[in-house]
Amino acid sequence: MKDLMAHRGEIIHFLTNDKDCEYFEDGLLVIENGHIHSVGNAEILLKRLPEDTKITEHPNCLITPGFIDTHVHYPQCEIIASYGKQLLEWLETYTFPAEQKFDDPEYAAKIASFFLDQLLTNGTTTALVFGTVHPQSVDAFFTEAQQRNLRMICGKVMMDRNAPAALLDTPETSYNESKALIEKWHNKDRLRYAVTPRFAPTSSPEQLEQAGRLLQEYPDVHFQTHISENKQECEWVAKLFPERKNYLDVYDHHHLLGKRSVFAHGIHLEECEWQRLAETDSSIAFCPASNLFIGSGLFNLHKANHYGVKTGLGTDVAGGDSFSILKTINEAYKIQQLQGNSLSAFESLYMATLGGAKALDLHDKIGNFEKGKEADFVVLDYHATDLMKFKLDQCDSIEERLFSLLMLADDRAIKNTFIMGREAKNAKSK
Ligand code: GUN
Ligand code: ZN
Repeated sequence: MKDLMAHRGEIIHFLTNDKDCEYFEDGLLVIENGHIHSVGNAEILLKRLPEDTKITEHPNCLITPGFIDTHVHYPQCEIIASYGKQLLEWLETYTFPAEQKFDDPEYAAKIASFFLDQLLTNGTTTALVFGTVHPQSVDAFFTEAQQRNLRMICGKVMMDRNAPAALLDTPETSYNESKALIEKWHNKDRLRYAVTPRFAPTSSPEQLEQAGRLLQEYPDVHFQTHISENKQECEWVAKLFPERKNYLDVYDHHHLLGKRSVFAHGIHLEECEWQRLAETDSSIAFCPASNLFIGSGLFNLHKANHYGVKTGLGTDVAGGDSFSILKTINEAYKIQQLQGNSLSAFESLYMATLGGAKALDLHDKIGNFEKGKEADFVVLDYHATDLMKFKLDQCDSIEERLFSLLMLADDRAIKNTFIMGREAKNAKSK
């Protein structure tokens, strides 16, 4: 055994689905060369380890797999918490002006660095990330992510209409630039590429066809876009694509659905669209903080589960007003409560970890503590605030304690973030 280390504390993770949780009150997580070696009861596992193994104790803490953000825009850091607009006006007023700055590679590098530090501070170890239309925005992002040894997915926005001229590409340039980025970055270290048309209103059918061509030529790349987030947006799509059956069909027609395709939002989907998402093994990114902040609507998680559509959580910064997956879980809970459904602590932690990994088709590498997986994990401090200590010390069961933790915690509760077994340097530079 080489480079062996272990972390002792309460440990929770999911083996297959949200009903299949493994919990150790006094657990040990053993890491070998950056990968999971074993997980289990501390007293039993300690007896089997070489005596000189470095063991870090985490009293009053819960160890979980790193959080997975299945939908976020790194170029929108600057416009987080911007006042008073809903989606289409919000894009015009705040988003498009901010994204124009990313033609400057130095600016892009500065924001990418800030963004990744924010993710790590919040316990997020993997994300599916939008760049801007500028290929240099993706170069900057991957350069920073590679330096931090992170498992990240990113793509250049494809957008050839209905946006300011400075942010437009063409079907041809978007194809060529995306292809060059795939060749340069996809599967380099822990990085992967996602073909990224922004959403149907900003891509011509010719551009969507080029997106489909990229997926056909590179079958293991990912795909990300937005769908059915806002009522006005849905009406606009129906007008722009009268020949298509529904919003999803715009993407389906160009062969953009599949097990590595993630559609953000999906608030206003019809039954047949849910059915089609399930049939094609496509995923939804549920972005509750964003859906509330820009007033888009209430996502029906019950329906996603009913149809068996894989669902991950997304912060959607900067439609969302927080980088924290913990705060995102809190908002997800409230959105389901408003629809008469109670989202359990286990289901929400599952979505933030193994469920997110499945939505990204990365569950063979990350998402739980199965032997051989990459050791990205977080240590959550039950006593991070006076209120958390006061409440959590009263909880008798892990169900109760986990639920109250998820409702009350934010970045203050992220004691450490580990990447491939090593503590992330910037994670606690708060
Ligand atoms: N739809 C198209 N572009 C965007 C975006 O940048 N953010 C959100 N939330 N929705 C979008
Ligand atoms: Zn988004």
